[in-house]
Parts: sequence; structure tokens; C-alpha cells
Amino acid sequence: MKKTCNILDHNAFSFDDDQKLGSDVSELIRRRMETIGPTSMLFYKEPLNIVRGKGVWLFDNKGDKYLDVYNNVASIGHCHPKVITAITKQLNKVNVHSRYLHDTVLTYSERLLSTMPDNLNRLVMTCSGSESNDLALRLANTYTSKSGIIVTESAYHGNTSLVTGVSPSALKMDNLPDNVVTIPINDLTRWGSDAEQKFCDYISQAIEKLNSRGYGFSAFLADTIFSSDGVYSHPSRFMQSAVDLIHKNGGLFIADEVQPGFGRTGDSMWGFQRHNVIPDIVTLGKPMGNGYPVAGVATRLDLLERFSYKTGYFNTFGGSPVAASAAMAVLDVIEEERLIDNSKVVGDYLKCGIQKLQESYGAITDVRGSGLFIGVELSRNENSSNPDPESAATIINELRQNKVLIGGAGKYGNILKVRPPMCFSIENADLFLRKFNNALKKVYT
Ligand SMILES: Cc1ncc(COP(=O)(O)O)c(C=O)c1O
Repeated sequence: MKKTCNILDHNAFSFDDDQKLGSDVSELIRRRMETIGPTSMLFYKEPLNIVRGKGVWLFDNKGDKYLDVYNNVASIGHCHPKVITAITKQLNKVNVHSRYLHDTVLTYSERLLSTMPDNLNRLVMTCSGSESNDLALRLANTYTSKSGIIVTESAYHGNTSLVTGVSPSALKMDNLPDNVVTIPINDLTRWGSDAEQKFCDYISQAIEKLNSRGYGFSAFLADTIFSSDGVYSHPSRFMQSAVDLIHKNGGLFIADEVQPGFGRTGDSMWGFQRHNVIPDIVTLGKPMGNGYPVAGVATRLDLLERFSYKTGYFNTFGGSPVAASAAMAVLDVIEEERLIDNSKVVGDYLKCGIQKLQESYGAITDVRGSGLFIGVELSRNENSSNPDPESAATIINELRQNKVLIGGAGKYGNILKVRPPMCFSIENADLFLRKFNNALKKVYT
């Protein structure tokens, strides 16, 4: 039987590896365990002590330089001077909670909403993707008076109690709540021209299940590039009929843009636009402030009105003037540095380069993705029905030892997640491809 992989276990440091580490690293790990404790998860067999970042580079305490091919938080590049200046300037003036008027907060909201479809005409600012999804589920529940939620099989949507319940990939021992039904997505690339219909069939079955359990159907919550499921980007319009079906059944479509949003997929600002669908709620996070914690929910006025009539909502730090300044600088940089175009051009180049490697390594059974969000599937015996998480972990750690950082994803942990900051250059891509080829050679020859 194929063993499934919890999202927190992808590429995680194990204490069995500690024996081989230097005393300074082991000492930091010991202190971390004695303070942060068992929720403390670390990447790589040899964890990194990162002290500085610049653009696509991260530097450790010894001054070693790592090519970052993983981070989508510092999405426009680590320590971008425009974001630093915007934050510092505003911090020097004032930072208050969200119950005062502030021009920057309003200008940001207007600007962000102008990138959304017309029906999404309100923005509630929060501090994290989890808070955004939590609010989105509550909005859907109030609006539909139903509580049944559909998510994909290995989805991750965050860490609040409500949102952990719709994040199958975060659950180790616990079961999903009874009002949550999952649908598979990890066979999508094999569905071919049937993808759109299969996707609809799964959603129909899930709706039936929720109705028969007495919850009714409230919403389908989906990361529009299915990141933790293993990066499923194509065919680019396969969600269209599904969204119609959702609406016909009285449910809402919540697009989680925490991973694909802010131009990463290279085709558009938002992942849902690649599918040409209009969500009822869009949740935002990670790249929104390039490392400053700012997140949000874009939605329809009627949804917010229904919710606000019943429940108050206040978020102390959500949409503070500093948060809005950071977020505004991010929008400026995306435009000024033409980062959506860069994602497309460099992303296509990188994907093509990996596809060329695929010709030499049969273990790579699929290369997929859009823009600078690429998934590389590794399988045993050149057969995609035999996922190979062990080789994926070996390659991730081999690259880390050679100062290139990537991550893992997917139900079985056999997908390499290649997702650099959006300022990644052709030269950076060439360096990655060279080092990736070396790692593949070491594992497969
Ligand atoms: C798709 C998706 N949604 C939501 C979240 C939660 O965001 P945060 O960690 O900022 O709460 C994550 C975090 O990894 C995510 O990947």
C-alpha cells in the first residue's frame, strides 16, 4: 500500500539525524525543543540557521549563500528595499489598530479590489492565511445556512480549529470532521480531456454525501493551484464547470490564493483567473506583505452584510497602517519590476529545462505548473503509479547540501516543489538546473 505523507512531514528534520550534526546546530535544536517544543518543525536533515536574505539569496550564520527556490512569502525577493522603506516610514509615523480612519489602508483596499472581478467589492484585512480562511468559512456558513464543506484530498488551508478541520494534509491521527468531504485531485494529469467532467463528478458525489449526512452544502474551498496536493495547474480551465455546478447547488466557491496569488503563476494576478472562474470569496496571505504579516478576504458586499448582521468582526492588527504600507509596496514592486511577466518568462524557461532533464531521468514522471510554481513528480520504475518519496527527500537534501533550497508536496510526498521568489532570473534558473541535474545524477546513476 502507498504510504501517505502529512504536510508537516515533507522534508522535515528528524531527531535521528541529530547525531551527525555539528555541536552548534545541535545546541540550537536543543534550545528550540526546550522552548518552542514539539510543534517545532524544521526543514532538511541538516537544519539551516538563516541570518540574512537578499533577493533570491539566503545566508546562514557562517556566511554561506543559498539559492532560494522555495519561498513564496518573500515573493518579490528577500528584504526588498521598497518594502523595508515603506514599513519603516510608516512605523516612524504611527501604527494603530484598525478602528481609526487611515488613507493608506483605504487606498490599498481600493487598489487591491481593482485587481479582482467586479462582484468582489469588499476587502477585510487579517494577519494570516489561516484567519482569512477561517473568516471565509464563517461567511459561507452564515450566507448559505449550511455547514458542509468540500476540499481536496491533501489540501492545507491553515491552523485555526475550524481551518485545521478542512486541512486533511495537516491531520496526523485525527479524522476530518463529519461535515467535511474530500475529493481527489492527484490523478488529474491522468484524466486528460476528461478532467473537467471527472472533477464535476467528484464534486456532485461530495455534495450528495453532505446532503445525506444532513449538513447541506456550504462551500468548496480550493487552493487554485492545489499546492499541497502536489501542484495541479492544468488543463487551465478545468474548474469552470465545477464552479457552475457549485453555484447551481446553492454553494459558494472560496478561492484560496495564499499560494498562487499575487502573480506567481505568470498568467495573471490570481490563480482563479487562469481557470476563468469567478469566486464568491478570495482568501489572501503569505506574499501579500513580502514577509510582513498581512492577509485578507475579498468578497461580496451581500455576504459581508449577512455575516455582520449576526456577528461582529474585529482584527486588531489586520489592516493596520504599517500592514497596508507593506502590502502597497508589494503591489508597486510587482508592477514596476514586471514580476508577473518575469514569472511567466523565467517560469516557462525553468519548466522547459526540467522537462529536458526528464528525457534523461525516467524517474521524473511529470513536470507541471504555471509561472514560477512548478511541481516535479518522482516515481519508481518510471511508473507514476509508484510514487517515490524517498528519492524526493534525498534530492531535496542533496540540493540543500549544495546550497539550493526546494521543498516537497503531494499526498505521498513525491512531488518536488520548485517555487522561487518572483524576481528569479534566467541565470538563477540555469544555476538551479545545473545543480538539480547533479543531484539527479547522484541519485539515479
Ligand atoms: C494554501 C494555503 N492556505 C492557507 C495557509 C495558511 O496561511 P498562514 O500560515 O499564513 O496562516 C497556507 C499556509 O501554508 C496555505 O498554503
